[in-house]
Amino acid sequence: MFAFLRKPASYTIRPIGPSASAECARLHATAFAHPWSAPEFESLLAASNTIGDGALARGNSLVGFALSRHAAGEAEILSVAVAKSERARGIGRDLINAHLARLAAAGVTSVFLEVEPGNASAIALYRRVGFETVGERKGYYRKPAGSAVSALTLRCDLG
Ligand SMILES: CC(C)(COP(=O)(O)OP(=O)(O)OC[C@H]1O[C@@H](n2cnc3c(N)ncnc32)[C@H](O)[C@@H]1OP(=O)(O)O)[C@@H](O)C(=O)NCCC(=O)NCCS
Repeated sequence: MFAFLRKPASYTIRPIGPSASAECARLHATAFAHPWSAPEFESLLAASNTIGDGALARGNSLVGFALSRHAAGEAEILSVAVAKSERARGIGRDLINAHLARLAAAGVTSVFLEVEPGNASAIALYRRVGFETVGERKGYYRKPAGSAVSALTLRCDLG
């Protein structure tokens, strides 16, 4: 649904750490075919080179997250998701913009990510916040049926 047809969402965006692991895993499982477990999120969110941000609705329930790993001035966005019921309200855009600002503050100058060419909502979001396509990785994603799908590599330079 288009954002202008939806009521504005009420949420705050904040850094998240290992205590958000279970909620991240729950949200991730609703958004991706290959869910990551809570322990996987816990070790990612505990790592010193990982940055996580969450969108929290009233009652502090997690309605979105963005997670990146960074080293030597470059970062890779590992995962981004917004709860299905809260999409198309600008949460993804606000979350990624806040996340990019945190990455910049950590000394990151270039951010990369992989996305499926058919993921129209994610590609629209990434282009909106300044990412451009810089390459394609053949056979990057495994489909549940066993086939492989290529990924687009997107890049955003933080000025
Ligand atoms: C991708 C995702 C995070 C977007 O979150 P969202 O909160 O719905 O995005 P927003 O409402 O902030 O929209 C951001 C921009 O993308 C556009 N957009 C969002 N969904 C769209 C869609 N289905 N088709 C076209 N454009 C879309 C919006 O119009 C908006 O542009 P605008 O700021 O000019 O209005 C969400 O759809 C999601 O969690 N998807 C499943 C997980 C996923 O695919 N993650 C990315 C993996 S690489």
